[in-house]
This record gives sequence, structure tokens and C-alpha cells, in this order.
Amino acid sequence: MSETEHEAAAGGTAGAGPTDGTGAGRRRLGVGMVGYAFMGAAHSQGWRTVGRVFALPVDARLAAVCGRDGAAVRAAADRLGWAAADRLGWAAAETDWRALIARDDVDLVDICTPGDSHAEIAIAALDAGKHVLCEKPLANTVEEAEAMAAAAERAAARGQVAMVGFNYRRVPALALARRMVAEGRLGTLRHVRLTYLQDWLVDPAFPLTWRLRKDRAGSGALGDLGAHIVDLAQYVTGEAVAGVSALTETFVRERPLLEGTSTGITAAGVAGQAGTDGQAGVAGQTGADGGGQVRVGAGLVTVDDAAVFTARFPSGALATFEATRFAAGRKNALRLELNGSDGSLAFDLERLNELFFHDHTEPADSSGFRRILVTEPGHPYLEAWWPPGHGLGYEHTFVHQARDLLHAIATGTAPEPSFADGLSVQRVLAAVEESAAKNAVYTPVGGRPHARVNSRAETGAHIA
Ligand SMILES: NC(=O)c1ccc[n+]([C@@H]2O[C@H](COP(=O)([O-])OP(=O)(O)OC[C@H]3O[C@@H](n4cnc5c(N)ncnc54)[C@H](O)[C@@H]3O)[C@@H](O)[C@H]2O)c1
Repeated sequence: MSETEHEAAAGGTAGAGPTDGTGAGRRRLGVGMVGYAFMGAAHSQGWRTVGRVFALPVDARLAAVCGRDGAAVRAAADRLGWAAADRLGWAAAETDWRALIARDDVDLVDICTPGDSHAEIAIAALDAGKHVLCEKPLANTVEEAEAMAAAAERAAARGQVAMVGFNYRRVPALALARRMVAEGRLGTLRHVRLTYLQDWLVDPAFPLTWRLRKDRAGSGALGDLGAHIVDLAQYVTGEAVAGVSALTETFVRERPLLEGTSTGITAAGVAGQAGTDGQAGVAGQTGADGGGQVRVGAGLVTVDDAAVFTARFPSGALATFEATRFAAGRKNALRLELNGSDGSLAFDLERLNELFFHDHTEPADSSGFRRILVTEPGHPYLEAWWPPGHGLGYEHTFVHQARDLLHAIATGTAPEPSFADGLSVQRVLAAVEESAAKNAVYTPVGGRPHARVNSRAETGAHIA
């Protein structure tokens, strides 16, 4: 461990504790990242940029990145900024995540791998005294998520921090929406409406990648896209989903199996741009045609293609959720609308600098939805960016995520979303699967007290 990193270690943990915040003798925190395809590229961009935009009492140092193929991970280290000019690429690359965790120059482990490895890596890193950032969904099962939340709680007592990568909380317009709801601008909440629509599985020739396998991904559109909108609904409203009625469907049950595609990607082409490591990466290069790879047969899709569910909130508000990769023409349409007694808010990720607000207390003849351009210095995260009107994009959410995590570590405060928040989302996903298996029977979300749950929700009396 370097001298500065020794300074950063407090009480045997990695970099917890307050700083003077002056910039002089700023602490350095070594980041080690596992996985370097789609999310790996996005997180790398966040780590590279955060210290150049936000004034922070801790500097992130890109220490090392981990994959499974030596040559590919070295190339990724080079491409994504992990191999600093004064170090050879090999010094910044590991092929075993256990070796990454064991490195003295790694204080924070950033997990950008598929869900089947989240629990093992996160718990090992926390038990080794490291801070952890873990991509969503937190895990593939509630049991794994419970073990991770317990490990995070133990680690918190030692001053460590664990955060889940629900990056959409860091879209300034959505952080503003939360602020406006908390300020009571909508009055009593009646409707919470979220959809997350993509279309990259419409073509039945799209290959069977890890995202279509339950053993790797846990679930399909539900865990991938549904997890985001459940977290957002809970974040923006400040309430926990009490219970759900759900339907799920797998529209295309068999897909081409390509040579080497035992793991896989996100939307076609995206991970390909980010680079691959010879296993997950194979599918990363593919479009629907598999990018010229050899078809070796067909395989069963073992996850949902779409999930649709209604839900109750403890306050009595009703919610609807829809997550699908079959919405032809919709690329990344995460949409939210809230209706309250005093007004409404509407947001679309494909226009992410804008938040629409209707103030229902204004005279009817002049009221209506108006566009708030969320680029003012007083808006969340905007104080560090460009003059008003010079908008932000998807990648900025990862810079904001890095900022919030470093801030939590430097100040010794609990991060949001915590592993407990990730567990709470996991419980909603499990309730959705349970309800869908019973053809939409209302299913309370397990494992949490429902302080203000509408009594009908408890009894399931509203079931159609
Ligand atoms: N926050 C978001 O908006 C968002 C978007 C996409 C994906 N994700 C999440 O990020 C995670 C990764 O998704 P992705 O799209 O980046 O996938 P991907 O297939 O593009 O990349 C996965 C990476 O993990 C590596 N990997 C897999 N198993 C490994 C192991 N045992 N050891 C070392 N490396 C290993 C692969 O080689 C690859 O580099 C998933 O949990 C996914 O749900 C989040």
C-alpha cells in the first residue's frame, strides 16, 4: 500500500473517515474493477472523470481491472485508462478477482460482472476490508442479497461502505423529482407509473447470451430493467412497494447458441464498443446475426422477456410497472409519471435533461405541464458542470455515482443506495415472480414491515 493509501486506511479499513476537504494532502483511494465490457466501460469513464469535475476530499486512483483472459484484460486496462503512463499494462490487470481483492493498492472493489458472481465477489471484498460498489440487480436471489446486506452491515461497523449501482438515481432530473416530491409539491400521491422499454430482443435470431439464462442473470427484463424502475419508484416517492400483482412472459423460447456465447451482453453492439475479454465479449460483438460467429445449435431462454405488474404503496398510492426488451422502436425508454392531489411530474430518459411539472393548484385556465430544463446550478449535480442549457447525458450518471460513493467514504456516511436498498428491490422482484407464477395473485413483498400499508393490500381484497 502506498503512503497516501496508508493515510487513507482508518482503523484497518479502506479509506473510511473524515478528511479536511482542503485538497491539501488529499487522500487517494485505489479502485479495482471486475469486468470491463458495457458497465466496465461506463464505470471507468466515471472514475476517470470524477476528480476533474467535482471537488472531493478523496482522489480515486484506477489501480487495476480484472477479467478472465490475460491479453484481453491488458488491452482493456490500456483502453479504459487503468494502465497509467508510468506503469505497464500488465501491472494494472488481473485475471482472478481474488487476486484483485488481495492487492494492497485496491481499497474499493467495483463489481461490473453478471449477477451470478455479485454475491461471492462482494462478500469476499467486504470481508477483506474493502469498500464495494456492485452493479444492479444486487444479486440473483433474495438469499444472496440477504447475505450481501448482512456482510455490508458487518463491514459498516468497521467503517466500510457498500453501494449498489442504480445509476439512474443520479440523473439530475430524477434527483430533482425526488426533491419536489419530498417538498410536498405533488400533495398526496395517487399514481406512480413507470415503464422501462427496450427492443433489442425483437429479432428471434438474436443469440442466447448470459442475459437470457436464469443461472447467470437471475431473471430477464425483470431483473435487468424492472430492478431499475422499482428502485426509482422507491427512491422518488420515499416509499417501499408493499405488494404486487404480476404477469411475465417469454415470447421467444429458443434462440441460436453461438460458439463461445456461454456468457453475453446487453443491447447489440453496446458491449462490443466497450471491448470484451473473450468470453462475455463474444456476444458483445454481435448484432442479431451473431457478428459472424458460428451457430452451434439452439438453446432455451430461461428468463422472462417482459414483466408487467401493478403495485400498492403504503400511503395508498397505486403503481404500474412495465419492463420489456420487446418494445419495437423503444431504445432506452425509461419513463416515469407521478400524479398527486396538487400536481404531476413526468420524465423520459430519452430526454434526460427535462422534467415536466404540472402544478394543479394554479388556475385551470392557465395551468398545464411545463418543461423544467434541469441544467441550472441549483439543480442536483449541476453546480460542477456547464452553464445552463448545456445538457448532460447517460455517462454523467456514472460520474455522479462515483462522486456520491467517494463522498460517503470520505465523510464516513452511509451510502445510497445501500445493499439494504438493493435487498429491498430484490424482494420486490421475488414477489413479482411469485405473483406471476400464480397468474397475478396479489403478493405482499416479504421481509419488511409495512408501517402504513393499506389494509386491503394486506388482505389482498382487491384481487381481480
Ligand atoms: N446500471 C446500469 O444501467 C446497467 C446497465 C447494464 C448492465 N448493468 C449490470 O451490470 C452488470 C454487468 O453487465 P454488463 O452489461 O456490463 O455485462 P457485459 O457482458 O457487457 O460485461 C460483463 C463483464 O464481466 C466479466 N466477467 C464475467 N464473469 C467474470 C468473472 N468471474 N471474473 C471476472 N470477470 C468476469 C466479463 O468478462 C465482462 O467483461 C450486470 O449486473 C448488469 O445487470 C447495469
